[in-house]
Amino acid sequence: MPDPSPATTPELLTRADTSLFHHAGPFSDLLVERASGCVVVGRDGTEYLDFTSGQLCATFGHNRSELRDAIMDSFDRAVHSSSHLLSEEVIVLAEQLAALFPDPLAKVTLLTTGSEATEVGLKAARMARGSWETIGVNRSYHGHTAGAAAVTFLPRRRGSGPAQPGVHAIPAPYCFRCPLGASYPSCGFSCVDVGLAAVDAQRTSEVAALIIEPILSTGGLIEPPDGYFVRLRQECDERGIALVLDEAQTGLGRTGDMFAFEAHGIVPDVVALSKSLGGGFPLAAVVLTDEIAAGAEEQGFRFLTSHMNEPSMALIGLAMVSLAVHHVAIGTARTQGERLRSGLAHLVDEFEVAGDVRGRGLLLGLEFVTDAESLQPAPEVARRLEQVCRHRGLLVQTVSENVWRIAPPITVSDAEIDQALAVMAEALETVRPG
Ligand SMILES: Cc1ncc(COP(=O)(O)O)c(C=O)c1O
Repeated sequence: MPDPSPATTPELLTRADTSLFHHAGPFSDLLVERASGCVVVGRDGTEYLDFTSGQLCATFGHNRSELRDAIMDSFDRAVHSSSHLLSEEVIVLAEQLAALFPDPLAKVTLLTTGSEATEVGLKAARMARGSWETIGVNRSYHGHTAGAAAVTFLPRRRGSGPAQPGVHAIPAPYCFRCPLGASYPSCGFSCVDVGLAAVDAQRTSEVAALIIEPILSTGGLIEPPDGYFVRLRQECDERGIALVLDEAQTGLGRTGDMFAFEAHGIVPDVVALSKSLGGGFPLAAVVLTDEIAAGAEEQGFRFLTSHMNEPSMALIGLAMVSLAVHHVAIGTARTQGERLRSGLAHLVDEFEVAGDVRGRGLLLGLEFVTDAESLQPAPEVARRLEQVCRHRGLLVQTVSENVWRIAPPITVSDAEIDQALAVMAEALETVRPG
């Protein structure tokens, strides 16, 4: 912005409604002026603690100086190049990313968004395995492009006609509200058994891939219980299915480990990364096993956009990888996550409408219920209290109707966590009965 604009916030909001397509419903009336660390400042100067990390991208805080340096460096080198023309920074980023993964994950491709990462990961797995059928999980989100929406089992997939054929959903491992009315661990993962039996009844060929988020975040911060991923891995191995993990929200240190799959003792065949990798800039990646990469290449795999292998974004990625390595080593997401989680658990004990806290590291969820006995979902309470928090200077996000996603930058301070918990408690007091 060359000059400060004299327009008032209401004027700008009217202009937004006139000039911008409402691509996802109405726009928020909070206009962002600037952001730094864990704080977003509105146009009227109000400061908000951003416990959403933007769109889960500002994992190490907003406006990191490392990102400014990376962009400035790219102007001394090359900001953009043809996707066919590689530069040293692209090769080094691919090497550094591959080195973060256990064998046999070894091949990297650099992309722009998480939706693209879903498309590329699934296309490579399908071509390598010589089939197209795919399993997703109910309540999962993998993006809005056509192929990603086809494996997204949330209402947002609706509206543009038939989804890809050959895509099946298995029940969500949502233990707080088990879709089968079972209890963990005595259930023996009946959600997997029932789901795969239904897929077997529906499929007309072999299944190539199963895609899942380590924590089903947009679907309600559902973390599958211990042993679930081991069971999925076994099923995939027995059936020759490639296991694709979408680490868009969990990757690069948010859950405490570099990648969330590490906590579950499995190695996937394909990993999709985005969000934290760009720290707010458009950078995503897919990491593949040698076998999937070679199989797809043999079948003539093709995917190309104008912005693959951008030197500027590779410099951004190198800065973010270095931040992630540092923060995983010093355990930031674990220590700050424990502080936040224990405060949220206290709110669950204290307030009847706060029904459950779950998640890992600094990707946490608070589920709202009407009362402690019926545990009925309380979406209006979740949305109303989100607004109360906002008016008291705290940003959280309601996902899947009645769950708050609480995911501050992992660089959040103790004082910021305590302040946010105090605001949440004040908000909850406003709905305390009697
Ligand atoms: C798990 C997951 N996968 C994929 C995506 C899509 O990423 P993008 O919005 O960058 O296309 C998202 C975005 O929220 C996500 O959370």
